[in-house]
Amino acid sequence: MSPYVIRYHDINASPIWARLHQHQRATRHLHMRELFERDPERFARFHLELDGLLLDYSKNRITGRTLELLVELADAADLAGWMARLKGGERVNVSENRAVLHTALRSPRGVPVWCDGRDVSRDVHAVLDRMAAFCRRVRGGDWRGFSGRAITDVVNLGIGGSDLGPLAVSEALAPYASPTLKVHYVSNVDGAHLARTLERLDPQTTLFVVASKSFTTPETLLNAEAARAWFRRAGGEADVARHFVAVSSNAPAVRAFGIDPANMFEFWDWVGGRYSTWSAIGLSLMLAIGPEHFADFLAGGHAMDRHFFSAPFDANMPVILALVGVWYNTFYGAHTHAIMPYDHGLRRFPAHIQQLDMESNGKRVGRYGERLDFDTGPVIWGEEGVNSQHAFFQLLHQGTRLVPSDFIVPMNSHYPVDGQHAVLVANAFAQTEALMRGKTEAEALAELAGLPGEALDMLLPQKLFPGNQPSNTIAIDRLTPYSLGMLLALYEHKVFVQGVIWGINSFDQWGVEYGKQLAARILPQLSEAEPCLRHDASTNGLIQFFRRHHER
Ligand code: F6P
Repeated sequence: MSPYVIRYHDINASPIWARLHQHQRATRHLHMRELFERDPERFARFHLELDGLLLDYSKNRITGRTLELLVELADAADLAGWMARLKGGERVNVSENRAVLHTALRSPRGVPVWCDGRDVSRDVHAVLDRMAAFCRRVRGGDWRGFSGRAITDVVNLGIGGSDLGPLAVSEALAPYASPTLKVHYVSNVDGAHLARTLERLDPQTTLFVVASKSFTTPETLLNAEAARAWFRRAGGEADVARHFVAVSSNAPAVRAFGIDPANMFEFWDWVGGRYSTWSAIGLSLMLAIGPEHFADFLAGGHAMDRHFFSAPFDANMPVILALVGVWYNTFYGAHTHAIMPYDHGLRRFPAHIQQLDMESNGKRVGRYGERLDFDTGPVIWGEEGVNSQHAFFQLLHQGTRLVPSDFIVPMNSHYPVDGQHAVLVANAFAQTEALMRGKTEAEALAELAGLPGEALDMLLPQKLFPGNQPSNTIAIDRLTPYSLGMLLALYEHKVFVQGVIWGINSFDQWGVEYGKQLAARILPQLSEAEPCLRHDASTNGLIQFFRRHHER
C-alpha cells in the first residue's frame, strides 16, 4: 500500500473524546488532597514497578474512571495496532517511508527482528561487535595516536540526536566511565564550543568521533573541518585516519569527507536521530563506559520494550505516563510538562527528552497530512533538583498555571557525602507532596496565630498554596546503565503512545528543515556589499547591522 494514501485521524470526532471532555468537566473540582484522604489505597492502586523502577502516578488529577476512559481513548486510536506495526518493522514513518526500529537496537543477540524481509538484528550485533572491539583497543591503549601515545580524550562532534542522547547518558553514567579516557561533546557551530574544548586537549592523544546520521548537517561538518585543521597543525594527512572516525548512515559522504570507511560505524535509516543513542551514535558513550556497561544499558532498554509490548494498557508504564500526559494536554489545556531529575548526573536528561518529545510530537498535522484541530505536544522543559526549587518552583506552587511534572529520583547515590542524598530525596518527596496537597487556609491561619488583624489580612493569602498540581514520581534504586536504559526507553515509548493518540507521525521533523534553508540563503548575504532588500524590514535591518558591526 502506498504510504501516501490519504486517511484521516478523526480521534477528536470520536465519542470517547467527547466523553473525556465531559469527564474532565465533571471531575475538575476534585482536589487530590481529598482523593488521598478518601482512598488510603490510592498509592497501591496507582503505582507500577519493574526491575527496581517505580512509577508513582497517584499524585494526578485522576480517578479509576479517568484511566478507564483514557484506555478507551488508546483503543479508539488503535494503539495496539500501531504498537504491532512499530514492532513488526512496518513503515510507520509514512512521510519518509521508513520503518522505525530503535527497539531492534537493544534486542538481544540471536532474536531476529525483521524489516523488509531482513533480520536487522544481525546487522545491529555486527556493528555492536565492531564498536566493542574498537572501544577495547582505544580504552586498552592499543589504538594509538600518530606519535605513539595512547588516546586520552574523545571529542564527539554531532548535534541534536547525534549529541544530546550520548551526552545526557554519558554524564549520567560518569561513575562507570574510564578514569583515563575523557569524553567531550561539541555540538554548536558557535566556534567557542570547539575552541574551548580543544584548548585543553593535545592532538597527539585526541580522537574525534564525527557523529551524523545524514553526514550533511552543516554545524557538524564545519566543526569536523575545524577539528581536522586543528589536528593538521600537529599531525600529517596520513595520520587523520588514527584520529578521526565516523558514525553515519551515509558511507559515500563519510568517504568524501576523507574518513576511511574502515573507521566508520554504520547505522540505518530506520533509526531516527533522537532515538539513536542505542546505535553507533552511542560510540562516544561506549568509549566512556565500556562495552559491558553499554550492553547493560541496552538490556535496560530492552526490558522496558518487553514490558511495553506485553503489559495490558492499564498496567503499562509508558502507556500510563502517556495517557496521563494526554489528560492534561488535551483535556485540561496544559501547555507544558516539566522534568526534574533529582540527580546531578541526570542534569542533561531534560534537554534530551525535550528534543525527543518536542521534535517528535511538536506537530500540527496528522500522519496523513490532515490538520489537527487540537493541541498536541507540550513544551518540555526542566532542570535538576534541588536547584530547580530555588529557581522556578515558586510558580509551580503559587502561580496561575497548571504545570504537570515528572520527578526522577534515585534512592542511592554514587557519591554518598555524609547523608546528603537523604536530604536530596527528602526534598523531592516534599515537593511532590506540597504540590499535591497545597496548604489550606486553616493550616496557614494556625501558623500565623497571634498576628494582628492587618498583618494577617496581608499575609494570609500569601501563605496559601492551592495544591492540586500534578506530578509523577519515577523512583529508581540507583542510576545504573540498566536503570537508565529503562528510563530512556520509558520516555521514548511514552512519546510514541502520545503521537498515536494525537494521530502524529512522531518520527519525521520537517519543521527543522525550513530554518536550515533560510540560514543557507542568508549566509552569503551577510558579506554582500549592496543594500539588503530581499527580506522583511526586520531581517534586512538585522543583516545590515551585522555588516556594519562584524569585524572580518
Ligand atoms: O534537528 C534536526 C535533526 O535532523 C535531528 O533530528 C538530528 O538528530 C540532528 O538534526 C542531527 O542530524 P544528523 O545526525 O544527520 O547530523
